[in-house]
Amino acid sequence: MKNILIVGGAGYIGSHAVVNLQESGYNCIVLDNLSEGYRDAVKCDHFVQGDINDTNVLNYVFQSYDISTVMHFSAYINVGESVVDPQKYYKNNVQSTLNLLSAMVDNKVKNFIFSSTCAIFGNPQYLPLDEDHPQAPINPYGMSKFMVEKILEDYSKAYNLKYVALRYFNAAGAHPTVRIGENHRIETHLIPLVLKTLTGERKDIKIFGTDYDTPDGTCVRDYIHVCDLAEAHKNAIELLDAGNESYQINLGTGVGHSVKEIIAACEEVTGMRVPVVNAPRRAGDPASLVATSGGLAKRLLNFNPKFIDIRETIRTAWDWERNKEY
Ligand SMILES: NC(=O)c1ccc[n+]([C@@H]2O[C@H](COP(=O)([O-])OP(=O)(O)OC[C@H]3O[C@@H](n4cnc5c(N)ncnc54)[C@H](O)[C@@H]3O)[C@@H](O)[C@H]2O)c1
Repeated sequence: MKNILIVGGAGYIGSHAVVNLQESGYNCIVLDNLSEGYRDAVKCDHFVQGDINDTNVLNYVFQSYDISTVMHFSAYINVGESVVDPQKYYKNNVQSTLNLLSAMVDNKVKNFIFSSTCAIFGNPQYLPLDEDHPQAPINPYGMSKFMVEKILEDYSKAYNLKYVALRYFNAAGAHPTVRIGENHRIETHLIPLVLKTLTGERKDIKIFGTDYDTPDGTCVRDYIHVCDLAEAHKNAIELLDAGNESYQINLGTGVGHSVKEIIAACEEVTGMRVPVVNAPRRAGDPASLVATSGGLAKRLLNFNPKFIDIRETIRTAWDWERNKEY
């Protein structure tokens, strides 16, 4: 049985990857400092609480377990915060990743799967976004991920490291059967924010900008179910195991939904009315971000998202939001 190290496996997406991998017969070892994640989200037997800045912890993990692939989910993820405190982002997203990669090189671990983001593209020059789209991040969060992608290009040439950088669009939803889901300590994502207005945790939802060049004037994003993302990660392990190449792959559904459409879908799923307040545009929000469908992800990862209807994705998020276990 192969051992996979899941760094950041107590967080939202990492915890779903762990469940998927365990079900597929992999042995998961989670390393997480619990700065943002939750111990209860870790649904495997091997958990190490530690920080990837700590080389002793990394050496301990690599020497205790024969790791075949590292999945690296850990990062700070709040775009707005990255603008006011870029140091925090470059330290935890770039410097910490360098520390992790150095420990991998020292311990001769070759396969790496990296959580990148569509934020590396900045303002789209054309849509949908394919892998060839120019990269010009417009905030420190996106820049930190772009820098790691560049570091990976160099490391793969010099140190024989193989990697897949997966550029997610907007992760959404929760596991339909295992009790894990999205619970960021500071939530900035639209679907949980809308649902929190319905549980009474928030007063209303602000729509930032209603005058964009989109069909209803509000921003359009590509929402991909977290279980579909998890499946793509498993397939990325197999892709790395099968060859000697490295890859950068966009991961979205190819379908965009506007803020107003998401709110309407939340109302339909819950049967409740969402309190909405219109607000001015936020700096740095592109009008639309939508991935190509059927591109590299389909060809290389056999990517075939199961959650196509946004209402199904929202239904899983709503189940979780009402019955959260952490
Ligand atoms: N959520 C999205 O929509 C989205 C979209 C694109 C990319 N991503 C990327 O996916 C990854 C996972 O996102 P998420 O939403 O699951 O975030 P999350 O905050 O829920 O999970 C990150 C986990 O990493 C841990 N962590 C942070 N710094 C650490 C460190 N130095 N050492 C050890 N553990 C550390 C946290 O405690 C947390 O459990 C991130 O890299 C993020 O940039 C997320």
